[in-house]
Amino acid sequence: MTLRHQLVIALLVLPAPWMAGACSPGDGSSDGSTDVHGAEVTVNALTEAPTGFDGLTNGFATQAAMDEAAAVFTQIEDVGDGLGPVYNRQSCRDCHNNPVVGGSSDVTELRVGHFNGTIFVEPPGGSLIQDRAIDPAIQEVVPPGNEVRALRISLNLFGGGFVEAIADSTLASLAANQPAAQRGSLIQVPVLEAAGHTRAGRFGWKDQHPSLLTCAAVEYLDEIGITTPLLPVEETSNGNSVAAFDHVPDPEDADGSDLAALTLFMRSLKAPPVDATRAATASAQRGSNLFNQIGCAVCHVRSIATAPAGTVINGGAFTVPPALGDKIIHPLCDFLLHNIGTGDGIVQNGGQSTRNQIRTACLWGVRTRPHLMHDGQSATLTEAIGRHANQAATARANFNNLSATSKQDVLNFLSSL
Ligand code: HEC
Ligand code: HEC
Repeated sequence: MTLRHQLVIALLVLPAPWMAGACSPGDGSSDGSTDVHGAEVTVNALTEAPTGFDGLTNGFATQAAMDEAAAVFTQIEDVGDGLGPVYNRQSCRDCHNNPVVGGSSDVTELRVGHFNGTIFVEPPGGSLIQDRAIDPAIQEVVPPGNEVRALRISLNLFGGGFVEAIADSTLASLAANQPAAQRGSLIQVPVLEAAGHTRAGRFGWKDQHPSLLTCAAVEYLDEIGITTPLLPVEETSNGNSVAAFDHVPDPEDADGSDLAALTLFMRSLKAPPVDATRAATASAQRGSNLFNQIGCAVCHVRSIATAPAGTVINGGAFTVPPALGDKIIHPLCDFLLHNIGTGDGIVQNGGQSTRNQIRTACLWGVRTRPHLMHDGQSATLTEAIGRHANQAATARANFNNLSATSKQDVLNFLSSL
């Protein structure tokens, strides 16, 4: 990372209350990061990442390539294509389409397991219980003795290419600069496309994935039941083989071309735009300041810089291109795991200590989400804030102590995002 980037990150990522006493972020050499800035030292100007729900490319790919890839993202898979045998939906678009293709949705999925008093134990076949099957004989059910229940609502994919382009060391600096009582956890998770490599997790409610290609492979298999060169083995039905029902040779996406298209599409998505009219109101602007003052921005980080163009990430599998590097994004997110009392009891890639941790919800685009929090069970912003406890208890108390007008200012600010 260049000095200039370090300085800008120091200015950008630190919420106002902590800036005064903050020391400069580390040099990124001690965080286990596999991200390497391979080229000569560059001093590129940082620019704002493009935003929009307009279906136009952020510059990563040409518009024609993005449109072609969008057709793969929206295609409906059927049994002849390799759908299932166990699956959740037939297209990426079924769950990532609000307000436009690539967004989120009201669809939730179910994870279950057993807490034996010490550790979380997955049922046979894994914690994800697929909702659908191509034959009733292999319909998954919740096996007895699995009392842990977790719903996970779908996530917005806008701006994902920029999130992928954040250096591990930047996320480590964010954590290091948070007050100890609110400090988030950064976990290292496997990069499927670079066997043997790990990288800081940043995708999924549990930070269980490090890259968009890894996400595409996992989602194609888990949600739709399509095997790929990265994950060539079908999911089971409660641990039992579904081979008798699987008539398409694996990997079903034999040459990985669908996987490449899904990844290209996601990397080309612009960041979510704010509603400029709402954001310009005096109330929303007061709310924006209050959001910082009462400590929300400790976790819901306002601005983050992506790594310089030329940085090699994803265990060597991807080099940050100019369209995604040296960009400032406003995710209102630290991409770290926190225990705010909503933890769902599930362990994925982060080890037992993450059982009751959830990734900070990114508030960019939150106005497009009528169902809030990881389980989608909060119907209003006020309800979502009311569920913040433990590491976020102080921020919630600060919010509760605001006057009715100031509370409304914060809500109006959130509704502009
Ligand atoms: C059945 C609904 C469903 C389908 C179909 C689906 N997803 Fe998802 N997606 C989700 C849910 C739910 C999550 C959050 C899961 C979690 O973290 O537990 C998610 C998360 C993601 C993420 C992580 C986003 C982030 O910001 O952390 C990516 C990337 C993604 N999906 C891509 C895809 C792609 C590509 C496809 C098609 C191959 C797809 N999804 C199909 C429901 C779905
Ligand atoms: C210690 C970190 C932390 C602090 C401080 C914090 N939050 Fe959160 N916030 C989270 C996490 C983690 C989630 C996701 C929890 C879940 O889904 O179970 C979340 C979720 C949310 C959501 C739901 C968004 C969605 O898309 O589902 C809103 C709204 C929100 N926070 C607003 C606030 C506001 C306003 C404040 C200040 C009063 C605040 N948060 C302070 C960590 C924090």
